[in-house]
Amino acid sequence: MMNAPCKLLNWDSEFFGARIAQVEGGRLNDATINRVLQWSRDQRIACLYLLCASDDDESVRVAEQNKFHLVDLRVELSWRVQKIDNDSAGAARLFQQSDLPELQRIAADSYELSRFYFDRRFDRTQCSALYREWITKSCDGYANAVFVSRRRDSVGGFITCHLDSPERGRIGLVGVSENARGAGTGRALVETAQRYFFDKGASDVFVVTQGRNIAAQRLYQANGFRTHSVRLWYHRWFG
Ligand SMILES: CC(C)(COP(=O)(O)OP(=O)(O)OC[C@H]1O[C@@H](n2cnc3c(N)ncnc32)[C@H](O)[C@@H]1OP(=O)(O)O)[C@@H](O)C(=O)NCCC(=O)NCCS
Repeated sequence: MMNAPCKLLNWDSEFFGARIAQVEGGRLNDATINRVLQWSRDQRIACLYLLCASDDDESVRVAEQNKFHLVDLRVELSWRVQKIDNDSAGAARLFQQSDLPELQRIAADSYELSRFYFDRRFDRTQCSALYREWITKSCDGYANAVFVSRRRDSVGGFITCHLDSPERGRIGLVGVSENARGAGTGRALVETAQRYFFDKGASDVFVVTQGRNIAAQRLYQANGFRTHSVRLWYHRWFG
């Protein structure tokens, strides 16, 4: 029996209240597209994601001919871990439970450049709820560490850190309160994360952002991260 060409995404489907799936392997061609579309119709899929290599022109052509819409460039950057000398990270500390409401508020307002907001078929209130849920889960053990930077009497921003393996670190979410931006908070948070990964003995740290998120790319680049991969996110809606 042939493997299914797509996989149903249970978490996304439940969260958005619509059946959502993703093309397996991230490639399309004239031979596979019919199976992909037929599977999606059989499975009553509402939205199908495709994460496509940016140098795969055949997949791009087939996607565009079949009503897939480009919603994001997925830019992944990486940093080879080394000791951080700069001490601007002093202001950030580990998350405390009492920070959570402010972190949720910042997360709900910060990710308008993501593919969910750019795809107008997703309800914007639900997109905000998705990021609120993401930071809540991160603080509840999904992330290995969450650091918080204080600004006057409130939270200035946060960063979540994951150890996918002892060698491989990953930054999950970074968010700075809108009224605190442009003052070095993001930089101090990234440095805190870099120090954390150094102390944990990781060898490389990865982070994903959007092609349209110039502020985030420049923030990571200013902290020594370099482009690791670029891929294309497409969404295909049915009905
Ligand atoms: C991206 C973000 C975290 C930056 O935080 P910040 O506290 O404003 O950043 P800093 O003041 O520490 O700036 C650090 C560097 O980031 C870059 N940067 C920050 N804001 C920028 C902007 N609006 N435009 C261009 N570059 C910007 C700059 O290179 C800056 O270094 P420089 O001042 O030496 O040039 C913040 O804008 C934010 O929370 N955005 C929404 C959430 C988000 O996009 N998160 C990251 C993707 S998951």
